[in-house]
Amino acid sequence: MSELKYKRIVLKLSGEALAGEKGFGINPPVIKKIAEEIKDVYNQGIQIAVVVGGGNMWRGEAGAEMGMERSQADYIGMLSTVMNGLALQDNLETAGVPTRLQTSIEMKQIAEPYIRRKAVRHLEKGRIVIFSGGTGNPYFSTDTAAVLRAAEIDADAILMAKNGTDGIYSADPNKDKNAVKFDKLTQKQILDKGLNVMDSTASSLSMDNDIPLVVFNLNEPGNIKRVVEGQNIGTIVEG
Ligand code: GTP
Repeated sequence: MSELKYKRIVLKLSGEALAGEKGFGINPPVIKKIAEEIKDVYNQGIQIAVVVGGGNMWRGEAGAEMGMERSQADYIGMLSTVMNGLALQDNLETAGVPTRLQTSIEMKQIAEPYIRRKAVRHLEKGRIVIFSGGTGNPYFSTDTAAVLRAAEIDADAILMAKNGTDGIYSADPNKDKNAVKFDKLTQKQILDKGLNVMDSTASSLSMDNDIPLVVFNLNEPGNIKRVVEGQNIGTIVEG
């Protein structure tokens, strides 16, 4: 078994990652594949918490742009992360991995409420903990939730799984063919270069708490494992 770089991680899965090519909803074969990937990493003995996004169903910001009251639109987004959490839990458990799903907004019939100490205990007992519901507050992204939960549970790193993008670039590689990929960056470099990695709330929280962040391509099979083994894929943001 290879030496592991991280012992406890927060894996941020965007909602789009669960949608596959259609870009909308939950795609069962896609989510099954992701669950198998997570299982491979879990089998290496690493503690895994997953923060799920909800953009495959609803984006609060987009709802607000269409005239909805922003908080109301964000609550719909939070509910979509719970749906994704349930789907991921189902797939992980079908794959034989014990999990606990927690929600930042209480809906006890569906999942446990988020309790930090319980989440940590679950991780210590070898359960994957899925955090859904974002931070439980409107105006915050699930990237912010990932950083917040990582700080709370004292994770060694945040693994920011991207759909098709293999790291942080100097410009949008889909629009600028001169865009170059960074292997390593500091938080300050991200700010100085004006790179768009996470929203500013998530970025400043991650900077203040000094949690390493790895941005990598989820679509390449085996990549989650490569990151926890410390292989040089994607972009690592440290310091
Ligand atoms: P330990 O106490 O460490 O053994 O953890 P545990 O999660 O196995 O114990 P618990 O008895 O709290 O939970 C048993 C099952 O019930 C688990 O699948 C939990 O996810 C689930 N569960 C616990 N609390 C809640 C809750 O408030 N709502 C829902 N829906 N499920 C819950």
